[in-house]
Amino acid sequence: REFGRFGPLIGAIDEGTSNVKFMVFAANTTEVLTYHQTSLKRFSPQEGWVEQDALEILSAVIECVEVTVDNLRKLDINPDDLVSIGITNQRETTIVWNSVTGQPLYSAIVWLDVRTSKIVDELTKTKGVQSVNAVTQTSGLPLSTYFSSVKLKWLLENVTAVKDALGAGCCLAGTVDAWLIWNLTGGTHGGIHATDVSNASRTQLMSLKSLQWDAGLLRFFEIPRQILPTIRSSSEIYGYIANGALLGVPISGCLGDQQAALVGQGCMSFGQVKCTFGTGCFLLYNTGDSIVHSESGLLTTVAYKLGPQAPPVYALEGSVAIAGDTLQWLQEGLEIIDDVKDSEVLATEVDDDEEGSICLVPAFNGLYSPYWRKDARGVICGISSKTRREHLVRAALEAVCHQTRAVATAMETSCAPLRRLLADGGMSQNSTLMQMQADLLGISVIRPLMMESTALGAAIVAGRAIKVWPARTPSPPADTFLPAISAEEREIRCARWEKALSRSLGWAKD
Ligand code: G3P
Repeated sequence: REFGRFGPLIGAIDEGTSNVKFMVFAANTTEVLTYHQTSLKRFSPQEGWVEQDALEILSAVIECVEVTVDNLRKLDINPDDLVSIGITNQRETTIVWNSVTGQPLYSAIVWLDVRTSKIVDELTKTKGVQSVNAVTQTSGLPLSTYFSSVKLKWLLENVTAVKDALGAGCCLAGTVDAWLIWNLTGGTHGGIHATDVSNASRTQLMSLKSLQWDAGLLRFFEIPRQILPTIRSSSEIYGYIANGALLGVPISGCLGDQQAALVGQGCMSFGQVKCTFGTGCFLLYNTGDSIVHSESGLLTTVAYKLGPQAPPVYALEGSVAIAGDTLQWLQEGLEIIDDVKDSEVLATEVDDDEEGSICLVPAFNGLYSPYWRKDARGVICGISSKTRREHLVRAALEAVCHQTRAVATAMETSCAPLRRLLADGGMSQNSTLMQMQADLLGISVIRPLMMESTALGAAIVAGRAIKVWPARTPSPPADTFLPAISAEEREIRCARWEKALSRSLGWAKD
């Protein structure tokens, strides 16, 4: 059929932990024609608990779609040119809902939530080393509060509404992608209960080899198979939008947000690495068709599978729980900055080696890769009467870079030396952070001018499924940050971080 001046358009729903966006791309380009974005609330009813409202997530997505479609009309672009939609989402966050009423049975338990700490301890104690190792071998993931497995176990054991719905045969569960696909394709009127391999690989219930729910893992965590979605590839038609402005448009792409950024950054060959700086910070190393198990604290995960018949591509991942959230804490918790964006300039007003400089380890809820210490808590070391808020801001940025460096080092141990790092995500707009990262890694950091790699990745897989997006998208122009400190200075700074890190470990031991 005939299309308008931009040709066929692809929409990407980008449902992150902090923000929801809907972006429209002209197919086969990195050009965003228009978008709408809204923020999401988080609740913490108890220390260490992190929840979101599943209905708010859904209505935020619908709002973003409706406003963006309206924007298209205002730009004189026909919304009918939208030929497909891709979904990308915060991973691991777990939702259970009633298939008859469509209502969530509990809040969404967010990936950062650590209420399952006791479950993790009990499983570690009671199941024995062999079966715990088997879980890691099959799923690629260690036992941790991070993954959906234990969150779902907690929901099934602790929430009466979930137990009742399970008994009545109307309980459905899934990560945010599954919740959105089910609702957008019809919900109680025939919604499709599906997820993609990249999201499923973060539940800790899927076998990396078979790409199916694994009987051994389901038994280990005591999760009934029938409440889980069907696992599909990352690039195929799952169903059609059943309501609203995009009625009848296929949803044909689905990827966890970190895997989407890998695709959006064009890291489609072995050895390519990207780092997304968002709420947390996530490095993914494309390992091609090899399932590489790390001995240095990295996760093995599915990167993507570009169609039902395509082979899976795997990745090694280093996940840092707290990145942008440290700045959020400075703004909303301590109220010492007005806007996280101010950190870019404030951090340059002081130096690392001057009096008053400090080291901050933001282990708010423990540490993920490569440490995996849920008993770590935040520390600030080296405070003196000369310490000012600028030092704290600088230390917050440095903390992100040090954790990224630790993950990069682990990747070098498991695979090969990193030659450069491709950066993206909201926090990568901060050029001070990017320069610090290059300094502390000792390699160049490349930041594409189009920083919405996550949404772009979702658009690419959606477009590929309906054959309007060829295999490769030309690399967009980028900024390059080169290391500007000596190896000696790097070592001094890293040693300081390691010292502070050792103080944070074990703080929350019970
Ligand atoms: O694993 C959690 C991750 O997917 C969250 O990403 O971008 O919301 O920080 P983000």
